[in-house]
Amino acid sequence: MLRSHTCGELTLKNAGQTVTLCGWLARSRDLGGMTFIDLRDRYGITQLAFNMETNKQLCEQARKLGREFVLKASGKIAERSSKNLKMPTGEIEIVVEKLEILNESKTPPFTIEDETDGGDELRMKYRYLDLRRSPVKNNLLQRHKVGQAVREYFDSNGFADVETPFLIKSTPEGARDFVVPSRLSPGDFYALPQSPQTFKQLLMVSGFDRYYQIVRCFRDEDLRADRQPEFTQIDCEMSFVEQEDVLNMFEGMVKHVFKKVRGLDLPKFTRMTYADAMKYYGVDKPDIRFEMKIVDLTPSPSPQGEGSNSLVKGKGFKVYDDAELVAGICAKGCAEYTRKQLDELTEWVKRPQIGAGGLGYIKYNTDGTLKSSFDKFFDAVGLKKIADKFSANAGDLILILAGPEAKTRKALGALRLEMGERLGLRDKNKFECIWVVDFPLFEWNEEEKRWFAMHHPFTSWKKEDEELLNTNPGAVRANAYDVVINGVELSSGSIRIHDRSQQEKMFNLLGLTQEEANYKFGFILNAFEYGAPPHGGIAFGFDRFCSMVINNEDYIRDYIAFPKNNSGRDIMLDSPSQIDAKQKKDLGLK
Ligand code: AMO
Repeated sequence: MLRSHTCGELTLKNAGQTVTLCGWLARSRDLGGMTFIDLRDRYGITQLAFNMETNKQLCEQARKLGREFVLKASGKIAERSSKNLKMPTGEIEIVVEKLEILNESKTPPFTIEDETDGGDELRMKYRYLDLRRSPVKNNLLQRHKVGQAVREYFDSNGFADVETPFLIKSTPEGARDFVVPSRLSPGDFYALPQSPQTFKQLLMVSGFDRYYQIVRCFRDEDLRADRQPEFTQIDCEMSFVEQEDVLNMFEGMVKHVFKKVRGLDLPKFTRMTYADAMKYYGVDKPDIRFEMKIVDLTPSPSPQGEGSNSLVKGKGFKVYDDAELVAGICAKGCAEYTRKQLDELTEWVKRPQIGAGGLGYIKYNTDGTLKSSFDKFFDAVGLKKIADKFSANAGDLILILAGPEAKTRKALGALRLEMGERLGLRDKNKFECIWVVDFPLFEWNEEEKRWFAMHHPFTSWKKEDEELLNTNPGAVRANAYDVVINGVELSSGSIRIHDRSQQEKMFNLLGLTQEEANYKFGFILNAFEYGAPPHGGIAFGFDRFCSMVINNEDYIRDYIAFPKNNSGRDIMLDSPSQIDAKQKKDLGLK
C-alpha cells in the first residue's frame, strides 16, 4: 500500500503518529508563513500543513501544486490551532515531512466541490471528475449498500441469483427494442432484453422456485427524469404462490432495505385499487403524503335522467353541461390567490403536457363569502353546495376542470401534484408506500385500434372476470400490482399465466395470429406443456429504488455511475457513433 491511512479516518486520538496519505489536492491556501493543502480521497479530507520556517523547500514545492494533483504525503499528526468541527478530521493536520507528486492534473473544467459551477452537460462529459464530488460519490456508495441489503434479504429467504442472456430475440411489446446485428447470421438481429421476463418464467418451469437478479435492462423509449435507456432491475419470481404471498415477500424486502440503509421502520403498506387511484388521485401512482383528493361534481347519470343529481349541470354553463366529467380539488388556505396567480395556474393547466381547456375556481373567502370564475351561472347557495361537497372551509380555494373523463382526471392528478409541491406538502422526510392492485388486464390503443396488455402479455386475469374476456375486455382485471412510494412507481409485477391454452388466448386477444404467437413466443408456449408451476413475481426499478431510499427523489441520473443524457447519448464516450465500413460489411449492413 502506498498509504498508511485514508483521508477520512484520522482524529485527535492519532496525534503524534507518523502517517502517509494519498489523495487529490482539493484546495490550497498560502498564508505567507504557512501553506495548507486539503487532501481528498473517497473517505474524506485531511489538512496538510507546510511551514516556511521549518521546511522552506517543501513549503515552496507545495505552493506550486495545482488543483487535483495526485499526492503522497508523509508526516506527523498534530492538533490544529484553528479547528473545523464540521469535519471528522477537522481537529488535526499532518505536518508534512515528505511529499511526492504521484501525478499531475490539468485544471479541471469545473470546481470539484459539493456545490459546483459545472452545468449538466459538462459534468456528464467529465463524469469521472463529477464522481469525485461528495454528493454523487455518496449516492453511488449508498447504492452499493442498497444492493447489499437486497441480496442479504433474498439470500436469507432462499432466493437464487441466476443470470439470463443479454442477446435475445426481438419481441417488442411496450417499448422499442435495442437490436444488435449478427455477423454469423447476416441480416439477422439479436435484441437486448427489456427485462428478463420470459427467462425468469422458464426458470420457474425448471423448478428454481425462488429467483432474483440485479440485472441491466434496455428500452429504446423517450427519456425522462426517472427513465434511462439502460437501467437496472431487481428482478424476482416465485413458484407456488398467490398474489398475497408475493406482496408480503416483497413488502418485506422494501422494509428491510429502508431499515438497513436509512434506519427507518416503514409501516404496513396501504392497499389501493387501480380504480380508486384513478378516481381520487387521477393517476395509477398516487402520492398520498397529502390528501387533496379529487372530488367529482358530475356523478354518473342517475336513472331519473342525465346528470340529474349533479351540482354543476343544468345551470346554463355550457362548458359544464357538455362535459363528461366536472371535478376538482380543494387547496387548503389558498383563497387569497391573486388574479395573477390564478391566471398563471390557468396557463399551467393549458400547457400541452396537461391539456386542460381552462381552469374554474371557487374562492371560499375568509369572511365566508364565495367568489367563483363562473359567478354568472351560480348563486351563493349553488356555490356553497359545491364547497360543501369538497368539505371546504373559509380560506380554501377550489380548482375545477371539465372535459372527457380520462383526460380530465389525468389533468387533475397533475394539478394536484403541482399544488402539493407549491404548498410544500410533498415532505422529503415522509415515505408513503402503497400497493396499487387490480390493474386492468388491457388498455385500448387508439393508434393501432387494438388492445395492449397493460402490464405484459404473461399476466393472468382475475378468475371472476373471465367471462368478460370476450364481451368487455376493457373491464377485465389482472392479477397485477405495483409498489408506489411518494408518487413514484417503484415496481410492477403479476401472477402469471402458466397454461398454454390460456397464454394462446391472451395472444389472440392481443391481436396476434397463431403463427405470430408461435414465431415470437413458441419457446414459452412449449415450456408451458412440460409442467409449468403456478408462479408470479415482480421487478423493482433499482435506480428508482436507490434515488427514493437515499434521497427521496425520482431523478435517477445521479445514482448511476455513467448515465446517458436526455437524448440517450453518452456525452463522455460520444456514443452512439458511426462504425467503420469494415465493421458494417462484416455485419452485412449498408
Ligand atoms: P416494468 O416494465 O413495469 O415491469 O418494469 C419494472 C420497473 O422497472 C423500472 N423501469 C425503469 N427504470 C428506469 N428507466 C426505465 N426506462 C425504466 N423502465 C422501467 C420501474 C418499473 O416499475 N418484467 C416486468 C416485471 C414483472 O412482471 O415481474 C417489468 O419489466 O421502476
